[in-house]
Amino acid sequence: MKIAVYGLGYVGLTAAACLAKDGHDVLGVDVSADKVAKTNGGISHIAEPGLEDLLKQAVAQGRLHCTNQPDEQINDCDMAIVCVGTPSRPDGSHNMGYIAEVSRQIAAAVNPERRTPLTVVYRSTIRPGTIEGLIAPIFEAALGAGSSAFELVYNPEFLREAVAIKDFFNPPKIVIGTHDGKANARMDEMNKNLDAPVFYTRFREAEFTKFVDNTFHAVKVAFANEIGRLCMQLDISARQVHEIFVSDTKLNISPYYLRPGDAFGGSCLPKDVRALQYISADVGAHTHLIDSLLRSNEAHKHHLFEHCTAGLKPGARVLMIGLAFKLGSDDLRESPKIDLARKLLQAGYALSVYDPGLKPRQLVGQNLGYAFAYLPNLPNILVSDETVTGTHYDVVIDTNGTAGRLSLKANRVVDINTLS
Ligand SMILES: NC(=O)c1ccc[n+]([C@@H]2O[C@H](COP(=O)([O-])OP(=O)(O)OC[C@H]3O[C@@H](n4cnc5c(N)ncnc54)[C@H](O)[C@@H]3O)[C@@H](O)[C@H]2O)c1
Repeated sequence: MKIAVYGLGYVGLTAAACLAKDGHDVLGVDVSADKVAKTNGGISHIAEPGLEDLLKQAVAQGRLHCTNQPDEQINDCDMAIVCVGTPSRPDGSHNMGYIAEVSRQIAAAVNPERRTPLTVVYRSTIRPGTIEGLIAPIFEAALGAGSSAFELVYNPEFLREAVAIKDFFNPPKIVIGTHDGKANARMDEMNKNLDAPVFYTRFREAEFTKFVDNTFHAVKVAFANEIGRLCMQLDISARQVHEIFVSDTKLNISPYYLRPGDAFGGSCLPKDVRALQYISADVGAHTHLIDSLLRSNEAHKHHLFEHCTAGLKPGARVLMIGLAFKLGSDDLRESPKIDLARKLLQAGYALSVYDPGLKPRQLVGQNLGYAFAYLPNLPNILVSDETVTGTHYDVVIDTNGTAGRLSLKANRVVDINTLS
């Protein structure tokens, strides 16, 4: 393919060199005359291992040519990949000025009579909604809504500087965002030599991916450092603690505890997080991330209550399936379902709870105390299989994924574990 790359910075220059190595004809475009001249001379203006060698090869083979004229040769190209910067504004948001400008330049240069569409692929990190709210309107204004002269794709970049070439050819994943969430033939053609899982999504999911990844990486570093600070204060070997922690690929370094769904609860997590917060304050470790966890969890419980009761009138019939903190247990201590049940009762809904694993008469000790302190009328709201199947509910809240096993009559079923 003939591919234009707009923005010859860390991402764009690497992409231009690697695409040329992959056999494509690449047109590099940058506003900086200096970067253009250097790249045309096979010189890398950034320090990136192996990049200059690839640039030299690409230029020598005639596969890479750069310009600072945005409209030059764009109509000979099959694809334009946008890699311009999206730096922070003072308020923290991304500065979308370069994205808007380059989009206007490309849209103005596209021949409306093209025989095949120019596939315009955005790789810069942009806020969810940018393609639909900013970029598509720019192209539609220039070329007309429904024009077949262009198609838009969002394809986030996952490379890391210093290993950028290796990452370009071995990405952890490929995410392709399109208006309908379906595949794009030119993207598949470009990625055919890459061995990585491919996800086709709508624009918004693809745009959000990079935020989620980078923020999670930041959470990991901040968490590791907070644990490290605690270790230093408590005369514990941070190295050994790290070694033990990462060795657990079942529960720690794994998809467990990462799915959006219910709040955390039960007899261990809230108690031990609270106690670690206490220890941290005691030794002055200033663990802001750890200190924020219980408040974040309470905010999530309230969000779930609002999600479950959206549009419900006071007095509406609500069935909650599952009350124990997880399926297969009768442990009610700090179960987030108890908090939800309490909020529902306080808001005046006619609440029933179905949890066949729970026998109020068998509850003892702290479990009994917790249940009756937070839900004194627990025995009265627990209902049998017959009541559940014989009643019509305004909403059923499935907290443990078992609603599908019951024959329910309900206006709406909310599955807390998938936030749907
Ligand atoms: N650097 C990374 O490791 C990395 C990794 C993944 C994603 N990203 C994202 O990719 C995007 C680019 O990052 P970068 O680090 O390569 O930025 P950069 O600042 O190094 O490069 C951006 C380039 O765009 C050029 N440019 C600006 N306006 C232009 C225009 N109208 N036409 C042509 N060129 C123009 C600039 O001159 C510059 O050379 C950002 O959104 C960034 O968040 C970066």
